[in-house]
Amino acid sequence: MDDNAPEEAFAALKSEHLGVWGVAQIAAGTGLAVYAMWVGILQPGFRKVPLKLQVPYIPASKAQVDNVMTLLRGRKGGLVDLGSGDGRIVLEAHRKGFTPAVGYELNPWLIRLSRFHAWRAGHHEKVSYRREDLWKVDLTECKNITVFLAPSVLSLLQQKLQAELPDDALVVAGRFPFPDWKPCRIEGHGVDRAWAYNMQTQRQHIFKKNDTLKDSISELTREKEST
Ligand SMILES: C[S@@+](CC[C@H](N)C(=O)[O-])C[C@H]1O[C@@H](n2cnc3c(N)ncnc32)[C@H](O)[C@@H]1O
Repeated sequence: MDDNAPEEAFAALKSEHLGVWGVAQIAAGTGLAVYAMWVGILQPGFRKVPLKLQVPYIPASKAQVDNVMTLLRGRKGGLVDLGSGDGRIVLEAHRKGFTPAVGYELNPWLIRLSRFHAWRAGHHEKVSYRREDLWKVDLTECKNITVFLAPSVLSLLQQKLQAELPDDALVVAGRFPFPDWKPCRIEGHGVDRAWAYNMQTQRQHIFKKNDTLKDSISELTREKEST
């Protein structure tokens, strides 16, 4: 065989134009790889979750984790991260003294990754990652809750939290705020920002809003009756 064969073949390849067929093959290959990654790694666990409630995995930035922890300063007891991803918030919460620190996550690969991170950090017996659908978790005993989920599901999550959490619970949302709640504190800027919500204040705020709505309806009814 000619010693220069690989170099010649490479030079020939470089000089060849890809053409439409080549581009189509590369596009199809890339699409297939992305699809395989989605089905095999990112999507497992989500088959029973309605499409509109499926939230992709995006890890919180270091600054975002710090902002969430700043808002939790002074709080005690357990902490729950809803949709815990690779477990970074739970691990940091444990380091800050929250016990138990629990993450709920549907994706089994992310649960494994979280446990690996905890094991590597020497805290694997102190934190817990559970493969459960966050919409089905009973939150009535939770005092500290963190979330980093898509804005499309936050309105529905507000209702679940309002219905289940005790009055003295604190909810911290990363990157996206809850649409109708009033934060008691905000930390950070841009995509790293985090919002803290006191549950009792939310309930009072909602009662006030409902009362104002009721007053307006009664006023309108009275006006209508008098005409
Ligand atoms: C944007 S990531 C946030 C990850 C992590 N909390 C963080 O701050 O780095 C949202 C996570 O929620 C998980 N998730 C989405 N819907 C879920 C559900 N119904 N039950 C449990 N986990 C869910 C996703 O798999 C994803 O890992």
